[in-house]
Amino acid sequence: MAHASTYQPKTAFTRWLDSRLPIVRFVADFMAFPNPRNLGYLWTFGGILSFCLLVQIFTGVILAMHYVPSTALAFDSVEKLMRDVNYGWLLRYTHMVGASLFFFAVYIHIFRGLYFGSYKAPREVLWMIGVTILIIMIATAFMGYSLVWGQMSFWAVTVITNLFSSLDSVVSGLGTTLVQWIWGGFSVDNATLNRLFSLHYLLPFVIVGLVALHIWALHMPGSNNPTGLDVRNEAKETLPFHPYFTVKDLLALAAFGLVFAYFVFYTPNYLGDSINYVPANPLQTPPHIVPEWYFLPFYAILRAIPSKLGGVIAMFGALVVLFFIPWLDTSRVRSTKYRPIYFWFFWALVFDCIALGYLGSQPPEGNALLFSRIFTFYYFAHFLLIMPILGLIETPRPMPASIADTFKHKEEGEAGRRMHPVPAE
Ligand code: HEM
Repeated sequence: MAHASTYQPKTAFTRWLDSRLPIVRFVADFMAFPNPRNLGYLWTFGGILSFCLLVQIFTGVILAMHYVPSTALAFDSVEKLMRDVNYGWLLRYTHMVGASLFFFAVYIHIFRGLYFGSYKAPREVLWMIGVTILIIMIATAFMGYSLVWGQMSFWAVTVITNLFSSLDSVVSGLGTTLVQWIWGGFSVDNATLNRLFSLHYLLPFVIVGLVALHIWALHMPGSNNPTGLDVRNEAKETLPFHPYFTVKDLLALAAFGLVFAYFVFYTPNYLGDSINYVPANPLQTPPHIVPEWYFLPFYAILRAIPSKLGGVIAMFGALVVLFFIPWLDTSRVRSTKYRPIYFWFFWALVFDCIALGYLGSQPPEGNALLFSRIFTFYYFAHFLLIMPILGLIETPRPMPASIADTFKHKEEGEAGRRMHPVPAE
């Protein structure tokens, strides 16, 4: 549904500018972009994510003005910011809570895409850009967490960077060389912290660039919608982005803002680990090294595989497999609404990811380890076996002929009510 421009410059200045830098045209066309009129609140998460990205960049740039990327001063510089800098606590808590809620929103956004088949043609590139954004978000959050230089920061960096040493079992010495190159020395130290800081500052801007591509790729076919059907009649089935969806997005953003404010002002450390308030100590390993909640499913997969290299491959594989979903799903229909069997498998996947999250927080032994293995198996089976096979054999439910069909009855009902208003009592 790549859309022809409808903008008409009205003043002499906008006419002059339009032939030189058509930026007003760009914004006007963006605002007028037709969206399917049946989009639900799950489609507001893209806007919420854009807001999260801006909040992280705004607070992060100011935090960086006070942060000292040196192993001797990093932890204290954060504490000084919290205690001595005006509203430093607000900036830091907003950035900390913001990271968690960013992931919460992105996971909803991804599962929305999975449920409604938004990755299917012609939106494959849009989806793949999304997966790339997710991977860079994970790297950025991991690096940001390390900057605090608390116990969990230090040991998380140590554990995760050490994973690359598993390559020693492929080519002798390769892993060790790689890890030392990443560290910039023979242990996690000042050089490591400096490069983590530098990259943590850079990557959010890379994400901004990717989000621009993501939205560009979205505007070629236009948004999918709960029916998964293509728009057939633009006049009947779509509404302009502004004011209809800007208002809807703002309402959702207000609700999201309330949750955000609740965490920042009432329980800012709830989503984090208290052990990160202990300064990094390379001579003392914490009893349990656990990442932030949003990494737990991946951590469970890493530890579920008995070999180190196997665990690393599975953990990265859990992300890489997402790139191939557009081709792994062989179903003719997009939306799970019309897929009676896949519906249950979709919810099994949601349960599976939550269960892996819980198991990632537990020590990898006994039943926890056994279940981690079962749920890791299901995670991959879902994408590599169930999606391709089920799509070929499942008979979809009868579908409406068009998007307009889904709200025709509702509108007729409303018109009926308007003609015969309910008498006041
Ligand atoms: C910084 C992170 C991200 C931002 C700011 C972002 C932004 C957006 C926006 C504004 C939209 C249009 C509104 C909507 O449909 O909600 C959208 C749509 C979409 N995004 Fe993202 N996105 C992000 C991450 C991701 C990720 C990680 C994925 C998938 C792995 C993804 C996949 C999609 C898909 C498939 C659509 C089209 C949905 C549809 O039309 O049904 N996005 N995104």
